[in-house]
Amino acid sequence: MFHLAWFTNPRAHGWTANGPDRWAGNDINPTIWETGSFLVDMVKSLERMCFDFIMIEDHVVLSNDKQNLEPRLDPLPVITLLAANTQKLGVIGTFSSSFYPPFLLARQIASVDHISRGRAGWNVVTSSEDWAAQAFGNEKQPPHDERYARADEMLDLVKQLWDAWQPDAYEMNGETGRYVDPSKFREFEFNGKWHKSRGPLNVSRSPQGRPVICQAGSSPTGRDFAAKHSDIILCSSFGQNSVKVLKDFRDDIHKRAIAHGRDPKDIRVMFLISPVVADTEEAAQQRYLEIVGMTPQILKQRLGRLTLHTGHDWSKYDLDKPLPEIDPETYTEGFRGITQAIVNLSKGGRTLREALSEQETTSLKLIGTPDQVADKMQAAIEEIGGDGFLMHARPLTRRYLAEILDGLVPILQKRGLVRTEYKHQTLRENLLEF
Ligand SMILES: Cc1cc2nc3c(=O)[nH]c(=O)nc-3n(C[C@H](O)[C@H](O)[C@H](O)COP(=O)(O)O)c2cc1C
Repeated sequence: MFHLAWFTNPRAHGWTANGPDRWAGNDINPTIWETGSFLVDMVKSLERMCFDFIMIEDHVVLSNDKQNLEPRLDPLPVITLLAANTQKLGVIGTFSSSFYPPFLLARQIASVDHISRGRAGWNVVTSSEDWAAQAFGNEKQPPHDERYARADEMLDLVKQLWDAWQPDAYEMNGETGRYVDPSKFREFEFNGKWHKSRGPLNVSRSPQGRPVICQAGSSPTGRDFAAKHSDIILCSSFGQNSVKVLKDFRDDIHKRAIAHGRDPKDIRVMFLISPVVADTEEAAQQRYLEIVGMTPQILKQRLGRLTLHTGHDWSKYDLDKPLPEIDPETYTEGFRGITQAIVNLSKGGRTLREALSEQETTSLKLIGTPDQVADKMQAAIEEIGGDGFLMHARPLTRRYLAEILDGLVPILQKRGLVRTEYKHQTLRENLLEF
């Protein structure tokens, strides 16, 4: 069996969709996303199909392309809202290790873990954009590897804060009026290179103790950080559409986890996919072209995102020529994974335009009837050895959700490949079930 989850952003969904998916402009209420109600509908459907979790993406900046601004909601209230509207689905928010004081973030996530009865998680990102640093009063972001070193120290502190309360700290003695036994938490001083704090937290131990940690680093430093700290590690195949690349990624994570004294069985590696299904293979191919078809606006948007995530202006390259030699490790202090994806997609003399048009196809190309796509997912997981898929729609529309949740997932369920009922209450227990 394998795990299923969904990754999305708290933004105006479908705004830049192509053709028939495009609701923007004709939807009766195109700002409804701001209430979170679209995501509430969505998580109810994900829970109906027994997904492990939803993960809400975040960046703390607007795009730097003023013609393509994408306002969004803060993930913390969003995941709290989603938790309040579900019973079993995990709710993971993205929070940047660069901008939250560790004490504040530890207590926020522990609170959501309480509210959800053990279903909260934190997708740890380090943030590369200097604009984001300036929003918080700093001039620029630290270099790539230093950001991970700071995050590593932050995780040590956050874990100590979560661990400081014992599970049986509530005395609830009606006679003395004492609610908490003061011997059941640990006071401590943390004096790190970057972070200082005095524990314990003022939120008691939450149902999972340590809420689930999720991470999507792809550089060697990022993978090592993920293998040390994470329960869930997210992987896109850097544009290579190869099961072997995914298997190598998972094997590499396992090796790194062992080096950190961890049991790889405690880690779930999830591969990012955007399957396209239809009644016939031809119809699915047609639908794929509708979805990925590059309008000038989508092209501009992708160039804008690359510029934002890497700190380099990609519009300076000729779209109709192959990309010049780029080594992601030295090219950017921003996202190296996305740079690597473009470099890989440009191989064999392909133009930058071609690379950009393929960029969103995530880790594996899955196009066909629900049965054909289920075959490919099953074969991939058998070859890789585990653990599951993280669905991602670009664009996210009600139509796409129905195609996947009512078209593809029932086939996976009938084959016994994915869950048909939740056996546990907490996110971590559900992740570790198989
Ligand atoms: C599935 C997935 C989801 C991600 N979500 C976010 C996000 O919400 N916010 C963010 O700043 N970065 C996000 N990232 C970027 C990663 O955290 C990471 O910075 C990136 O993969 C580059 O890896 P590196 O930092 O090790 O070079 C995501 C990456 C992947 C593959």
